[in-house]
Amino acid sequence: MRKKLLLGNWKMNKTISETKEFAKSIDTLVELAKEKDIDIGVAPVYLSLQTLKELVPETFIVSAQNCHFKDSGAYTGEISIPMLKEIGIDWCIIGHSERRTYDNETSEKCNLKIVKLLENNFVPVYCVGETLEQFENNKTMDVVKDQIEKGFLNISKEDASKIVVAYEPVWSIGTGKNASKEIAENVCAFIRSLLVDLYDKETAEKVRILYGGSVKPNNIKEYMKMDDIDGALVGGASLSVESYKELIQNI
Ligand code: PGA
Repeated sequence: MRKKLLLGNWKMNKTISETKEFAKSIDTLVELAKEKDIDIGVAPVYLSLQTLKELVPETFIVSAQNCHFKDSGAYTGEISIPMLKEIGIDWCIIGHSERRTYDNETSEKCNLKIVKLLENNFVPVYCVGETLEQFENNKTMDVVKDQIEKGFLNISKEDASKIVVAYEPVWSIGTGKNASKEIAENVCAFIRSLLVDLYDKETAEKVRILYGGSVKPNNIKEYMKMDDIDGALVGGASLSVESYKELIQNI
């Protein structure tokens, strides 16, 4: 049985003091999550990672939103995995569509990062998903297949089962146009079938697959009923304590 996961992606939001303000309510959130038997956490900006990590209990996941695949070197503006590790971070989102769009993040580059993260005992949260144009041209499965195959390249069976995959159709992110539960389930089930092909059924059954894209307190429940959706990656609705709390309550 895969444990449900709620991960907030704060993107480029919240200063350190705003993060501290949110952290004042984390005990309540953790308590609620415990009752529901789900994993919860957020991915703040790099600057706030250490502050947040120091303020929350061990069970609350604090994830980075990106990392570089090299340990150190001449990569201006980048942050490496050992740097994150030193401050106790061991989760990292990879390949978010905003990074794919604005920062030319390719699936090949994501793969280099995923390999390195796994070597360092991190949990990578690998994001995949199609654009509106691809969706309208019935290319969703082709795009997702390519992203999954490239992202999981050179990753052993044991390591593959530690990866969290997030299916986030680009057309649903921050648009208020969430994918229907049927569309989301269809793609998440397809992702699991790809993992069966790449590895085996046992491995595929262990991988947690999240849906993301305009998930709100009033629609999270419908996704959670689906067989292959194991949680949600939530942007906007994870920013306020009130709405985060409602997301947990409605899972
Ligand atoms: P959203 O963002 O919930 O604001 O649509 C989701 C994401 O980008 O992970």
